[in-house]
Amino acid sequence: MKNYYVTTPIYYVNDKPHIGHAYTTILADVLARFHRLNGDHTWFLTGTDEHGQKVEKAAQKNQMKPIEQCDTTVIRFQSLWKRLNISNDDFIRTTEERHKKVVQKVLQDLFDRQLIYRAEYTGCYCVPCERFFTEKDLLEGGLCPECKRPTDSIIESNYFFKMSAYQDWLIDYIQTHEDFIQPAFRANETLGFLKQPLNDLCISRPKSRLNWGIELPFDHDYVCYVWFDALINYISALGYESADNSKFQTFWEDCTHLIGKDILTTHTVYWPTMLKAMNLPLPKAIFAHGWWLTSGEKMSKSIGNVVDPMQLCDQHGVDAFRYYLMAEMIPGQDASFTTQNFITRYNSDLANDLGNLLSRIAKMIGKQFNGKMPKAGVLENVDLEFINEVEQALKQMPVHFENMKINLALDAILTAVRAGNRYMEKTAPWVLAKEGNMSRLGTVLKTSAEGLRMLCSALHIVMPEKMREVLRILGVEKTDITQADLLTWDLIKEGANVDDVGILFPRIEIEKNVEIKAPKVEKVLCPKKEEKIVGIVTIDEVKKLDLRTAKILSGERVEGAQKLLKLQIQIGEEKRQIIAGIAMSYSIEQLIGKTIVVVANLQKATIRGIESQGMLLAAKSGDQLSLITTDLEMVSGSSVG
Ligand code: MSP
Repeated sequence: MKNYYVTTPIYYVNDKPHIGHAYTTILADVLARFHRLNGDHTWFLTGTDEHGQKVEKAAQKNQMKPIEQCDTTVIRFQSLWKRLNISNDDFIRTTEERHKKVVQKVLQDLFDRQLIYRAEYTGCYCVPCERFFTEKDLLEGGLCPECKRPTDSIIESNYFFKMSAYQDWLIDYIQTHEDFIQPAFRANETLGFLKQPLNDLCISRPKSRLNWGIELPFDHDYVCYVWFDALINYISALGYESADNSKFQTFWEDCTHLIGKDILTTHTVYWPTMLKAMNLPLPKAIFAHGWWLTSGEKMSKSIGNVVDPMQLCDQHGVDAFRYYLMAEMIPGQDASFTTQNFITRYNSDLANDLGNLLSRIAKMIGKQFNGKMPKAGVLENVDLEFINEVEQALKQMPVHFENMKINLALDAILTAVRAGNRYMEKTAPWVLAKEGNMSRLGTVLKTSAEGLRMLCSALHIVMPEKMREVLRILGVEKTDITQADLLTWDLIKEGANVDDVGILFPRIEIEKNVEIKAPKVEKVLCPKKEEKIVGIVTIDEVKKLDLRTAKILSGERVEGAQKLLKLQIQIGEEKRQIIAGIAMSYSIEQLIGKTIVVVANLQKATIRGIESQGMLLAAKSGDQLSLITTDLEMVSGSSVG
């Protein structure tokens, strides 16, 4: 039996949860359910990060003691997780004794071994990010490089962790452990960060400035820096350094941390060096996902563009919400949340494809077989084809999960559901009923019911409630779902009761007053006459262009050129640099990880003294540029034509 340990970041309790938090937690839940289904020994941890300035400030604002702020807000997270059917095995709060004890033990041990020392410190501090930066890290005007807000200049005596001692080791570790940081372009980002000399990490805050934290065991005038405290949750919750550390022994080395891309450095630099100093192995993988954006911006409370998960669940159901988040985001990349997208996907995948297939099967069995599951007779080619489509989808699922392509796993299953609807159309059971061909009708209905049962057994890790409902409707009596259910045909007993259901996923009618925001297009809506298609080319001329998909690895602005970005891209095995005039339409952050299309065989050019090897394609309307990308995720270097 394999072990699998999955964690979410622990969430700050300064405010209520939003879709960004819900996404990571649902992703962790889906992964945990998938591993349990595979029979892996699974442990799933989530929790809350309750110390630090953010929480202290929120408490002051709400006229509460910090612990009251924590106790009130933690309930919001816990009740949302309950509502979303999150199957975590443990929930850690950093204000719990079990956690504080471990943090203090770690601090004392590192202090005793002189890996923590005291020194005078001058630096720039960002309150919202709770991080120190050196002056060279800051953006123009002294702004924080993370959140772009003003920083405070601070001089104080503090304690430091000798993080710098581990720089070379960490670089080597990342380079020799390909799967440690995922997706791979995030490993490059961390390696890029490690090109600069690594500073020691300030791990204390004087109580005169911040009271709300874990006291340093060797100096009562200080509390521990919130990130140093928070990261330790991943091991304190497993019982590290406690009387019963069996969970730690079992699970730690099989750990996958799920994080958002904004907390990459803390997890891929601070945390590994802390573990190394503690003489502990590193987690197996750290997977950084992208952000949910609204109108092109990160969804966040301070911008005021958050979508409330509770509200969406109230309107359209928990499972539809879970499905949407998993199907819509390519893990690792950003995704835009729009009501329009949500409705389109819901109506097409759930109401039409899945809901329709179920209702067709259940209705016909209700009418033609008195609600009793018929028996399948001899299978014909058309039946075998459908069976094959189901089996193929279920085979692809673990492969996609292994590569963290949850969206593709869902895509494969929905493709098989659509094949189920096509199977119905090809075999036309309504005609068989009219003809009174009950034996063939029984075969078709039983085969489609079994196929749907297997697909829904797989989908239940994403939609636990609705899919159990489907299985019940189809006459499955047992309530546990195991991997064998995904492999076994003929599991529904002949004569089992089949419910003639109401509607599983009622269609969402787009109300007239729902405002659907169109993408921002400034001036020109259609090309002017003189801009219309010009100059006919032959197919041979078109063939001369070598168009390829490429992945954007990193980017920076070109000094003195407002519109230009210097991008590093990957085309298959090859890395290249191109200069692109898209800085007015995209930020670098939006571009990293995107799949684009480039003219790969364009002659090299020097633009503003910088070499450019290739050209990216983008649509243009007025001043607005929109990158040409692929509908499905394709490996970089795929030919386009
Ligand atoms: N407390 C720290 C994590 C400590 S882990 C040892 C923290 N908390 S947070 O509440 O601010 O954010 C938690 C997670 O939510 C982060 O992974 C962050 O990326 C994620 N999200 C916050 N907004 C998001 C979106 N708009 N979209 C997707 N996830 C984003 O950081």
